[in-house]
Amino acid sequence: MLMTDRTKKVSTDEKKAVGEFAAGIVEDGMVVGLGTGSTTAYAIQALGRRVKEGLNIKGIPTSFQARMIAIECGVPLTILAQDPVVDIAIDGADQVDNDMFVIKGGGGAHTSEKIVACSARQFVVLVDEIKLLDILDHPVPLEVMPDALQLVERQVSELGGKPVLRMAIQKDGPVITDNGNCIIDADFGKIVKPDRLALDLSKCVGVIEHGIFDNAYKIFIGKTDGSIEVLTRKH
Ligand code: 5RP
Repeated sequence: MLMTDRTKKVSTDEKKAVGEFAAGIVEDGMVVGLGTGSTTAYAIQALGRRVKEGLNIKGIPTSFQARMIAIECGVPLTILAQDPVVDIAIDGADQVDNDMFVIKGGGGAHTSEKIVACSARQFVVLVDEIKLLDILDHPVPLEVMPDALQLVERQVSELGGKPVLRMAIQKDGPVITDNGNCIIDADFGKIVKPDRLALDLSKCVGVIEHGIFDNAYKIFIGKTDGSIEVLTRKH
């Protein structure tokens, strides 16, 4: 099926390098979480090539996009109900800090991405180096039930954030997620305590999931010189 392709619009050599590097660490027999976005798309495509060469894996897609790419590339798929323990989840991110806190949800898929990442023995995050910061400052995506939009806006404001409803491109009205919900991008400026903010956002009624992740096991950083830096969780 022809689809507008976010991969092509934001493709960089670093994304391709880090995506293909991640595909290289997947082992025979693994259940693999397939993340969403342009970086992970390269990983899924590389996995598809390895499958054609004989690699035996099952992928669990985190979005419509990931599922379509996997099908096109010939990666066999499964679901969490069938394979509830994921060996490795591979996914991109919008920002990462040195303590390995991660902001995700640029593609509006962070709820499924978090479910798959939390089902995984290893959650591996792929970024290009421009996304690595000392202090996170990317707006935090919130998946919100449509009926709760005004309530969530109020709660985000009370936490000191600026809520912005994410609007669709090539469709009138808001972005609607794969789960039929809306996305609020909540701008908190510099996020000095991401663990505290994650806790506060978890308590907001109407927020199905927020985009702060604290469970990355490894972060692969694609550098402009072509190398890959690996951060590994120490505790
Ligand atoms: C989707 C995500 C993506 O992984 C994140 O937006 C990064 O995307 P890209 O690899 O295209 O830069 O969280 O919900």
